Amino acid sequence: MKKIKVSAPGKLMLLGEHSVVHKHPCIVTAVEQRLYLNMHIIKDDILILNAPDVKVKNYKKPFNKLLQNDIPKGALYIETAVKNFSDEYKIDTGISISTNSEFSSKLGFGSSSASAVCTIKALAEIFGIKITPRQVFNLAYKTHFDIRGLSSGFDIAAAVYGKTLFYSKRGEIIKKIDVESLPLIIGYTKTKAHTADIVEKVAEKLEKYPNVVNSIFDSISYLVQKGKKALLDYDLKLFGDLMNFNQGYLESLGVNSLILSKLVYAARNSGAFGAKLSGAGIGDNMIAVAPKSKMNQIENAILNAGGEPIKIKTNVEGVRLEN
Ligand code: PMV
Repeated sequence: MKKIKVSAPGKLMLLGEHSVVHKHPCIVTAVEQRLYLNMHIIKDDILILNAPDVKVKNYKKPFNKLLQNDIPKGALYIETAVKNFSDEYKIDTGISISTNSEFSSKLGFGSSSASAVCTIKALAEIFGIKITPRQVFNLAYKTHFDIRGLSSGFDIAAAVYGKTLFYSKRGEIIKKIDVESLPLIIGYTKTKAHTADIVEKVAEKLEKYPNVVNSIFDSISYLVQKGKKALLDYDLKLFGDLMNFNQGYLESLGVNSLILSKLVYAARNSGAFGAKLSGAGIGDNMIAVAPKSKMNQIENAILNAGGEPIKIKTNVEGVRLEN
C-alpha cells in the first residue's frame, strides 16, 4: 500500500495585510510550525479523513458525493482540495487522509491553507502526477477562493514556497526575498480573528471612501516596497519603523483593537524595533521585531498586557515530502 507524508509551514504576514486583497503587495514569511498530512490509497471510492486537531474523526464521503451534504468545518478545505484535484486529474481510487499540526488552528497561522496545499501535493505524489509549485499554488488558491471568496492567497503562497516572499496581484507576482530568519516575537491576543468578515468590512470602507482608502493602500504599498529593501539590507531598525507606520494605517482602516494596541505598546515600550498586528486584525496576533537582547523583556511585557508570547522561527521551507 502506497503511503505518503507531506508537510507545509504556517505563515505570518509581516507587512501589507488588507491592501494585498486588493492586489497591492505584501511581505509574508513562513514559520517553523508545520502541518503534517499522511495519505494512503484505499480500494473503495471514498475519502476518509481523520483530523483530530480540528475535531474530525473517521469522516467518510463517497467520491461521487464530494462537496454535497453537510461537511464538518474541519473537513472543508481538504474535501474541496480533493474535489478540485480530482476534477483536474481524474482520480480513480479512494484515499485515506490524516493530519496533525504543530500549531493550534486557533492561532491564525494558516492551518487551513496549509492543509489544502498538503492535500494537493500529496495527491500528486501518490498518483505519480508531475505538478509544479505554480500548479499546486493555483489549485490550492482555487480551493481557498471557493471557500472564502475575497482573499489574496498570500497564505497559500507561504505554504507552497516557504521562505519570506514579496507577494502581489493575487499571486501573479511571487518573489523570494533572500533574508535570514528575523528576530520576531508574537503576542497572541487569545481571541479569534474572523478574517472573512473583517475583509468584507474593509471592502465596504473602500467602496464608501474610495479616495481615503485607496490612498491608504498606496501608502502601505510604499511601505512594503521599502520593507523589501530593508530586509535585503537586514536593516531591522528601518523595518521596525515601517511596521509602526503600517500599524497606523491598519488602525485607520478600522481593523485594530484594544488588546492588539496593548500588545503593540507593550512590545514597543520594551525595546522592539517595531510592532504591529499581523493578519486580519481585531484578534489573532501582534508581531514585533526586536533586538535579541530585548526578547525576554518583551515576552514578559506581552504576558503582563494579557497576551500569550510565542517565540517563532521564520523563513522556513515550503511544502515538502517527509518520506
Ligand atoms: O487573518 P489571516 O491571518 O488569514 O490574514 C488575513 C490577511 C488579509 O490580508 C486581511 C486577507 C488576505 O486574504 O490577504
